[in-house]
Amino acid sequence: MGKIIAVSNQKGGVGKTTTSVNLAAALVHYQKRVLLVDMDPQASATASLGINRSVLYSGVFDVLMGNKTIEESIIKHKNSKIHVLPTSIELAHLEVKIDHEDREHIFYQKLKPIKDKYDYIIVDCPPSLGLLTLSALYAADSVLIPVQCQFLAIDGLTQLLNTIRIVQKQQKVNNRSLEIEGVLLTMLDKRTKAGWEIVHELKGYFGSGVFETIITSNVAAQVAPTYGMSVLSYQPKSPAAKLYKSLAKEVLAKNERRK
Ligand SMILES: Nc1ncnc2c1ncn2[C@@H]1O[C@H](COP(=O)(O)OP(=O)(O)OP(=O)(O)O)[C@@H](O)[C@H]1O
Ligand SMILES: [Mg+2]
Repeated sequence: MGKIIAVSNQKGGVGKTTTSVNLAAALVHYQKRVLLVDMDPQASATASLGINRSVLYSGVFDVLMGNKTIEESIIKHKNSKIHVLPTSIELAHLEVKIDHEDREHIFYQKLKPIKDKYDYIIVDCPPSLGLLTLSALYAADSVLIPVQCQFLAIDGLTQLLNTIRIVQKQQKVNNRSLEIEGVLLTMLDKRTKAGWEIVHELKGYFGSGVFETIITSNVAAQVAPTYGMSVLSYQPKSPAAKLYKSLAKEVLAKNERRK
């Protein structure tokens, strides 16, 4: 059974896209079949893999609008072997274009037929709790929450956790359950005391819900998207590549245990 993991935090710039792309690449490294869905109209995940947003034949928007099928919209990324459901800026108009009563469930309906073609479907969410994030959460089996190791890291997480609870209640009616895959601490500056203090605070808050792997600040992670590559392809020996592989191992260990 394929597992859908939404990567979400409504706070901007916390590492959602970097995590989505590199976790997807790391799962492929461990021979998993992975689909990466770019659910953010900023289309950063699409651009990070060097996919030209302006010449896209189809993407999330067309699939949700029913203009194109999901199968014909998926791109098989050459270098990374990640399958990508890309997006373009028009996704930003979705809220006004779709007035369907059940609109936050459409995404799951579209994913369902192809779910088992993949081991993991990673969904990169936008920095909001609007229709796109809700659609991702309703579709997801779990949510991975990246939290940046900096001042006010916990700010806004209450709203995300409340939204998760609302989705969990609704999913229960359909015999589904959204779990928290884990909280991922990102962009830790290991040299600063303040960074470690925040790690301590977040671990105190989320306990065992925090992944052992902490993604440190690393230039390679920042630069890789400018080459249209995951950090695993760009600099396989960089700390970021190793850390994302370690994160993938944790995700795999947790999910293999459950089978
Ligand atoms: N481990 C890292 N080390 C250094 N820079 C990083 C790291 N992870 C992410 N960054 C940089 O931080 C910025 C924000 O990261 P990213 O785009 O992944 O966050 P996001 O949560 O997806 O943002 P948004 O909310 O806008 O979608 C980017 O410039 C990215 O290159
Ligand atoms: Mg992003």
